[in-house]
Amino acid sequence: MRYLFKTTFYLLLSSTTILSLKFFDNVPWFWGTTIVNSNVKSSNGPHETAIPPIQGPKTVLVTGGAGFIGSHVAEALLDRGDSVVIIDNMNDHYSPELKYRNLEIVRNHSRALHDPGALKIYEGDICDRQLLEHIFRETKPSFICHLAARAGVRPSVEDPFIYIQANIVGTTTLLEAAQHHNVSNFVYASSSSVYGGLGIDQDRFSETQRVDHPWSPYAASKKAAELMAATYNQLYNISSTGLRFFTVYGPRGRPDMAPFKFIDRVAKGKPIQCYGDGSAVRDFTFIGDIVDGILRSIDRPYSFQIFNLGRGEGVQLSDFIDLVQLKTGKTAYVEVMPTQTGDVPYTLADITKAQMLLGYNPRVSIQEGIERTVRWYNATYVNGRAATEKSTSRKSFTSSKERSSNITSLAQNQRTLDSPGDQYFLSGDDPPE
Ligand SMILES: NC(=O)c1ccc[n+]([C@@H]2O[C@H](COP(=O)([O-])OP(=O)(O)OC[C@H]3O[C@@H](n4cnc5c(N)ncnc54)[C@H](O)[C@@H]3O)[C@@H](O)[C@H]2O)c1
Repeated sequence: MRYLFKTTFYLLLSSTTILSLKFFDNVPWFWGTTIVNSNVKSSNGPHETAIPPIQGPKTVLVTGGAGFIGSHVAEALLDRGDSVVIIDNMNDHYSPELKYRNLEIVRNHSRALHDPGALKIYEGDICDRQLLEHIFRETKPSFICHLAARAGVRPSVEDPFIYIQANIVGTTTLLEAAQHHNVSNFVYASSSSVYGGLGIDQDRFSETQRVDHPWSPYAASKKAAELMAATYNQLYNISSTGLRFFTVYGPRGRPDMAPFKFIDRVAKGKPIQCYGDGSAVRDFTFIGDIVDGILRSIDRPYSFQIFNLGRGEGVQLSDFIDLVQLKTGKTAYVEVMPTQTGDVPYTLADITKAQMLLGYNPRVSIQEGIERTVRWYNATYVNGRAATEKSTSRKSFTSSKERSSNITSLAQNQRTLDSPGDQYFLSGDDPPE
């Protein structure tokens, strides 16, 4: 009911917006009348006004560009003609080999191959101020897409300090660089985990809810990043948009997350460890839809915004597992484990605000998304293996010097890897981020 009311409200808002866009066609400054957020800046929904996208090629610094989401974003930016600068420290939260492989795919993008200025990659830490200064001077990015972070909920309970360093110190270091170098828009990854246990009432998570009770250091670090962005907006007027992603999955998905783990283990006929009775609900979002939401945010420099980027549909874990069985054609062997500290039982995004202010409209259903992910998994880890058994891929990645010289020379679709499953999947399904 509340959702219906909200949707109606936004529809009314959008018709007003379209009228005002027409009326103020030649007054670009007018669109900066933001705005709002959830809890870090006072939010009175009705004042929100959609702004038109900035068109034309941009230079975008993508932090964490070797990761799952970052590498897809880098490809999409190259696709549409932007220049991309990547910084990633290639840490071993999961196998760096997978990250080098992601970079190899980005480097093999036709624009990166034919236009030497289109892509630059730096291996380094976002907390390294000198390196950032060097990168800004050399590449002059005017947009930042900040995706680098130590991800994962449970490991943050075990070692919170890594999360504070990468996610809070790292974000602050980038905000400092953004204000010194007149960056036009600072878009950064937040997370659905900031909502903590608010889903216990089975309501949708909305940006207007207070999120003062995170359930893990990871969630707290993401909320802190939102607060730092609010502070820099207040102090220096830096435009920023925080994106609360809801369980992102798809090709090149992170091996420490449930979607990849489940597909991998079911495909291998190995048991899945499922924490809880399978009734937990997750809002799974396909990578292509997330990338679309990120690009829309980069193009729209709102003064200060926070958006949920989810599919907007709740899927029970038990149904998710059924779907994996269907698409892999294999049986799942489920070991039910007790619920873990930091796990939340329910996530479901209210995406009305992103729909209205970004034009975000997720298109890939969970059925199609799982099918595409299984297809990618088979091509990468199953079918291609025989054809590439003699591949020297693993040997190629021995030292970082060797790595960088080998990356471009390896054929991107021909190589298959040993699935990192057993090494990384002992902890069962990961709580939603
Ligand atoms: N995947 C999801 O479902 C999900 C959900 C919510 C939020 N997020 C957030 O989205 C972002 C991207 O997530 P992902 O799934 O692609 O994770 P990922 O781990 O695949 O990518 C993050 C990348 O950042 C790099 N990185 C980490 N710390 C760094 C540092 N200090 N300096 C430089 N590079 C560093 C890592 O090496 C990695 O390549 C993260 O901020 C994550 O917290 C992801």
